[in-house]
Amino acid sequence: MTQDEMKKAAAKAALAYVEAGSVIGIGTGSTANHFIDLLAQMKTKVDATVASSMASAERLQKHGIRVLDLNEAGQLALYVDGADESNHQLHLIKGGGAALTREKIVAGASDKFVCIADGTKLVEILGKFPLPIEVIPMARELVSREIVKLGGKPVLRPNCVTDNGNIIVDVHGLAITDAKQLESLLNQIPGVVTNGLFALRPADVLILGTPTGIQTLTAA
Ligand code: 5RP
Repeated sequence: MTQDEMKKAAAKAALAYVEAGSVIGIGTGSTANHFIDLLAQMKTKVDATVASSMASAERLQKHGIRVLDLNEAGQLALYVDGADESNHQLHLIKGGGAALTREKIVAGASDKFVCIADGTKLVEILGKFPLPIEVIPMARELVSREIVKLGGKPVLRPNCVTDNGNIIVDVHGLAITDAKQLESLLNQIPGVVTNGLFALRPADVLILGTPTGIQTLTAA
């Protein structure tokens, strides 16, 4: 089974959380794309969606699925999105697709966050995947110096401008044992829009596609 087939299997399993006529949040990335494509084939239709990126909004609209601005939609029942890493507490690293800020906003506005991924994303300690940070461009060097003080190695993501017009600094070399504390700390640095740790608002459910089938983890 390929990694992409495992992603698709996880996306398919997440359809069980979708209620007909509801308004749901949709994430970004290849796993979220599988979810969008499967959602379009579902018999029971959602009323509308809120997208965490321009790319996902475009894909939803191509399928004829209504996309609302979050301010119009209000509180959402469900958010479905992928992740770059998850630990067993369902603290995540996200932002490999540079959509972390909008993803964190939509997750924060949702009652339930169902994370979908292939089994390789489950780790004991977060941080092997470089932690993405969205930064206001003029603060690039200031933020990078502060990250070095915290023991990380900041690398500017080349040719990347976020949907919000900002840059991404990927932080290498962190072994994240207290994700909540690091998430708060990084967000205090002037110029940081947000960072890719989702620990203060973790996933509620993690659906993993594995070679032996679907594995579902829930937050303790
Ligand atoms: C985008 C994200 C994605 O959820 C994350 O990068 C996982 O992507 P994929 O589903 O392609 O493996 O956080 O900003």
